[in-house]
Amino acid sequence: PLLDRLFNAGKTEVELAKKLGIERTIIVPGNGDLQDRVFEEMGEELSSALDLLLPLGHSIITILGGAALAKSAKYLSKSLGDNRQLEFIPGRGALGENVATQSNTIVQEMAARTAGKYKTLYLPEQVSATAYRSLIRESSIADLLQDISQSDAVIHGIGLAQEMARRRGYDSIKLSELREKKAVTECFGCFFDDKGKIVDRITQVGLQFESLKKIPHIFAFACGARKAEAIKAYMPNAPHQTWLITDEGASEKILKEN
Ligand code: G3H
Repeated sequence: PLLDRLFNAGKTEVELAKKLGIERTIIVPGNGDLQDRVFEEMGEELSSALDLLLPLGHSIITILGGAALAKSAKYLSKSLGDNRQLEFIPGRGALGENVATQSNTIVQEMAARTAGKYKTLYLPEQVSATAYRSLIRESSIADLLQDISQSDAVIHGIGLAQEMARRRGYDSIKLSELREKKAVTECFGCFFDDKGKIVDRITQVGLQFESLKKIPHIFAFACGARKAEAIKAYMPNAPHQTWLITDEGASEKILKEN
């Protein structure tokens, strides 16, 4: 039944996709800010969407991480791994925060669910420009970056700029600089304002925003009314093949605004 639903987008899902300029949205009932079961349904929808879009055989799936994905990872269906060799790759290093929400942890969980494989990237997410230049020449990291560039699918969260900066340990001066630049959202280490312009950026080893457009399947995974403005600000930049998996909490708020 979930697969049937995927082929037949609802009216609101079509409207939201059109407003955001992306291929598809999937909206689950409820508001993730208040109801944890939203993450269960979003995880199941993600699983069905992957099942629909990924070919049989080997696929590389790059995972960016975040709290929403961490809560939903265990709802991937075991059958997604039937006749598939899935390889889950972290798309970035670790933010200075809870280990449960790191991409390194989520790839492990998704691989376990689907009898797939995973790789890890034990690096701090944010590095200096000098460290970046030498790290990307390190053979294990270069291999991982090669895998990322050949991903069949990318799954990423959408962050609120101030919250993501705080989670990265920004001090109050850097937080207010970010506020002055009017950063609303953060994805792939890029901070975007409400017009979708990149106003700040972190040097990070991993998937670069510019490489995203070459990835065949992209899933943005974000829910709850509090994420509405972040989703709206990021989406003008999202490659058209992006599918947004979200909830009514976010979608109703986005559709209400001009
Ligand atoms: O990586 C983090 C995401 O960009 C934000 O997602 O609010 O689900 O943690 P989250």
